[in-house]
Amino acid sequence: MTTTPTRHFLRDDDITAAEQREILELALAFRKDRHLEQPFAGPRAVAVIFDKPSTRTRVSFSTGIAELGGYPLVIDSASSQLGRGESVADTARVLERMVSAIVWRTFGQELIEEMAAHSSVPVVNALTDSFHPCQILADLAAVADARGGVDALAGLTLTYVGDGANNMAHSYLLGGALAGMHVRVGAPADYMPDESIVLDAKRLAAEHGGSVTVTTDHDDAVAGSDIIATDTWVSMGDEDQYEARAGVFSGYQVNARTLELANPGAQVLHCLPAYRGKEITADVLDGPRSIVWLEAEYRLHAQKALLTWLASR
Ligand code: CP
Ligand code: NVA
Repeated sequence: MTTTPTRHFLRDDDITAAEQREILELALAFRKDRHLEQPFAGPRAVAVIFDKPSTRTRVSFSTGIAELGGYPLVIDSASSQLGRGESVADTARVLERMVSAIVWRTFGQELIEEMAAHSSVPVVNALTDSFHPCQILADLAAVADARGGVDALAGLTLTYVGDGANNMAHSYLLGGALAGMHVRVGAPADYMPDESIVLDAKRLAAEHGGSVTVTTDHDDAVAGSDIIATDTWVSMGDEDQYEARAGVFSGYQVNARTLELANPGAQVLHCLPAYRGKEITADVLDGPRSIVWLEAEYRLHAQKALLTWLASR
């Protein structure tokens, strides 16, 4: 008997473009009907493990799993045996016998890959140092919703400015390319995206009608963009570099001038938490072009869509 391999969502390109579309359509449908599907009715448990702080991811997965009929088991790893050195593989071998999926926010991408390698239930990346793929599903769903549907995504120019080497930059590259967007990253030379991820994104963009541009020039990056995205200059784990980073990134702030260079009607994304006056000014974050609160809300709908889709594999 052949068994279908378990599907995991560890990076944005773990799904095909058609699968991404299916999940995004489902996310928009979940926004209209919060109780559209109940794949975890029973209730079945889903483990949601945090090695780093979180507000949105914690609340959206907890609420979402409950709305899917399931039981969210939220674990701070410091209070579990993972925090005392139990191996990732042994943790997976235990959890897979008790839960229907494992959602994990951790540090290295290799850790979540190890969890997936030892788990017969889906493993979902709730942010690693390298990727934040659930956030990009939410971002794409919010843009689609704000622009009339998922068909609106392909062909848009989505520009991320700021720390080009962080998880958000990498996920915009892959997720945006998969959606057929023209993805640009504007970042300082020492904070460029990982070259292998840029190559993967370029290959995806070529397959799906988009493109990928990486530049050190803020103005070139944002000129003519439809969507402007940014993120904190100091990601979780980089706190010791706070002062150095503030200087390096000051020319990459999203502000009124950024919006003047972008297309008329350009919309602004920020995964949050935001630091007003640093990576984005308050007038832009709180202004009419910002769709950050819809984006935050879509964490709930998009993750419910993802979990429902994974449960149906
Ligand atoms: N955007 C995001 O992942 O937020 P949290 O860190 O609060 O989960
Ligand atoms: N790049 C940020 C995202 C926070 C949601 C971080 O990793 O801290």
